Amino acid sequence: MAAAARPARSETTGIGLLGLGVVGSAVARAIVGRHGSGDPNVPLTVRAVVVQDPQRKRAVDLDRSIISTDADSVIANPEVGIVVELMGGEDPAFDYISRSLNGGKHVVTANKEVLCKRGGELLAIAAENDVQLLYEASVGGGIPIIGPLMNDLTANRIQSIRAIINGTTNFILTKMAHEGADFNDVLAEAQSLGYAETDPTADVDGFDSLYKISVLARLAFHTEVSIDAIHREGIRGVHAKDFRYASELGFTIKLLAVAQANEKSGLLTRVHPALIPLSVPMASVNGVLNAVEVEGDLVGRLWFQGPGAGPEPTASAVLGDILRIVRGGPGASTRADVPAPFDIASMDDHVCQYYLRLTVADRPGVLASIAKVLGDADISIGSVLQKDIDPENESADLVIMTHPAREANMQNAVSSLKRLDAVMRLDSLLRVETYPSRS
Ligand code: NDP
Ligand code: HSE
Repeated sequence: MAAAARPARSETTGIGLLGLGVVGSAVARAIVGRHGSGDPNVPLTVRAVVVQDPQRKRAVDLDRSIISTDADSVIANPEVGIVVELMGGEDPAFDYISRSLNGGKHVVTANKEVLCKRGGELLAIAAENDVQLLYEASVGGGIPIIGPLMNDLTANRIQSIRAIINGTTNFILTKMAHEGADFNDVLAEAQSLGYAETDPTADVDGFDSLYKISVLARLAFHTEVSIDAIHREGIRGVHAKDFRYASELGFTIKLLAVAQANEKSGLLTRVHPALIPLSVPMASVNGVLNAVEVEGDLVGRLWFQGPGAGPEPTASAVLGDILRIVRGGPGASTRADVPAPFDIASMDDHVCQYYLRLTVADRPGVLASIAKVLGDADISIGSVLQKDIDPENESADLVIMTHPAREANMQNAVSSLKRLDAVMRLDSLLRVETYPSRS
């Protein structure tokens, strides 16, 4: 077991950066600007940097001779005490992080993908080597949420986490809702602002939120939730019309990531666009902002909100972890009262109201045939709107809000609805998030 060398306060701590992109450059800029040789309180020095293309122009002024493609210049460098992984992805990040930990180095990362897929292994390696693996920036960008779950809230049994944790999709949905903007134009804007992942499908299709909610669920519920066990839907199926109709009904649409524990059914983790009432605080979380609502048995409901992506907010979280290590603050807590892991609940048993938008033939008896399909699946209709009648095609939009129904029943009903002659298209099926009344 390699002993971790915690630097004395007066010593300069050598930082090795794996990645010098959007976030890596912001971290390097902050180190050079605030903690370089000019700051005697917390002296940090960037000793080595690993990138894919050392010739590329960088958004930070660093000695070019320390930038290379050689991972060992960081991982095996005796002058590096803390390795900061800001490359993203599972490979080679897992290999580089595990080798750094095994070599007795502390690691700070913003990489939710590797934490979701291999976090359990990496945390075990860190513990074996008595070094810290900190990852505040991996969820919620600049919002402190990992630290509170790791330390301040450990006396609680967490009951639920409900979050908007992808800045890119929240930015897109907000612009679609407020400006009727086109999906692809807004995505390009989010990319240019440095919010989006290298491959933005990770954001748009809900993978990024899935990785992040699994990281939060592991911490909050002490339960490994495999990717396959998390229900995931992205935002590609949400259309401008849905915002219009949702708003008439008193809702807006957000990409939610939710982990809810129930002693009987277990832990359900899900990512999907949802209608949320305009009256709840989450409805006003707009643009790149993220928000995380945590409910614990002792503390009640807590609310964390802030910039969820972007170079400087993310650098704030990364630097916070680095300084925590340098100053010898608390790392991962060891809890005496950890409850037994939860069973993993099935999405089939999830119960909520549904919003359905269908393009239907505008003729007598159509509504009755749709109501029969829903009734046969034990789904009760709450309200119906008929909109945008198109005389040329003899069609209309039908917007149905149901009463609470079981997911499996709704999926069965959807299959049957698609087979009805009168149903030209099933355009949208969105869940309505159930908010317990505030105590
Ligand atoms: P970028 O794509 O901007 O930067 C990635 C960096 O890693 C680049 O410098 C790249 O080198 C380097 N890199 C990638 N693969 C390799 C490899 N195989 N070997 C060596 N170097 C490699 O990503 P971001 O800075 O946006 O994101 C970094 C991490 O932070 C990710 O895990 C992301 O999920 C996370 N994150 C990002 C946020 C954001 O707002 N952007 C917010 C919160 C977390 P080169 O420059 O030569 O191509
Ligand atoms: N692409 C991510 C987002 C970056 O948009 O939230 C922050 O993790």
